Amino acid sequence: MAKIIDGKAIATEIKDELKEKVAALKAEGKEICLAVIQVGNDPASTVYVGNKKKACSYIGIESRSYELAEETTEEELLELIGILNADDTVNGILVQLPLPAHIDENKVIRTISYKKDVDGFHPQSVGALSIGQPGFVSCTPAGIIELLKRSGIEIDGKECVIIGRSNIVGKPMALLLLRENGTVTVCHSHTKNMKEITKRADILVVAIGKAKMIDESYIKEGAVIIDVGMDRDENGKLCGDVDFESVKDKVSAITPVPGGVGPMTITMLMKNCVESCDSQSDS
Ligand code: GUN
Repeated sequence: MAKIIDGKAIATEIKDELKEKVAALKAEGKEICLAVIQVGNDPASTVYVGNKKKACSYIGIESRSYELAEETTEEELLELIGILNADDTVNGILVQLPLPAHIDENKVIRTISYKKDVDGFHPQSVGALSIGQPGFVSCTPAGIIELLKRSGIEIDGKECVIIGRSNIVGKPMALLLLRENGTVTVCHSHTKNMKEITKRADILVVAIGKAKMIDESYIKEGAVIIDVGMDRDENGKLCGDVDFESVKDKVSAITPVPGGVGPMTITMLMKNCVESCDSQSDS
């Protein structure tokens, strides 16, 4: 029987460690503040933003909310980011994506100071990761590394295969696994003979956004499966990119959906916020 990697329990463990760290920082007179900007009222974004604010409150981080109208102009948003960049009482800035179509997301990401880029999306943060220098790391892939480490799964020397090459998950995941001395292959929609590649994987990270696409025919006996998917099945029930029932008896460990990777993303955002306070006070 496969080990089910309990992301919820690991996330709680990390949040409790962060809570203690934040209390210690408070005792030194250091308060942490995250500015959270949402433009418009996309329902999914409202849920994500609400969960981020709840996590802040649990850990003892102040969250400062900016709920802007859908019609907010790019110029107005960039001006707000400029004000928050210059505000010493704000440690992290998060602009919830996606933004309305009339706003250039890349421009917004580049405008956030890389020192407050707790999402790890700024080109400076991505560049630092690619050359092995310190900087903020995108939260979902950083959370996956924590899940593997805290579950006692060795990465060094392992065949690691990622399906998906997004800027938020696939690409930073490849860099992080490489940093841990994995042998890394990235598959995507143009990959030929994908099963031949995925069947080599000791660790398979799946981030394609297609419900239950990966079944046991893609998987090597004893592999570790990390499912980043957040999809809906034919009955509207939340499920992953991996067909859990099909693979569960073949794998050595797997993350469930829900309760696997999902809870780690916000937890790593909190970790980045705490680190932002540390690194800003160093400089
Ligand atoms: N939208 C979906 N996921 C994310 C995320 O991790 N950060 C931000 N800023 N927006 C998102």
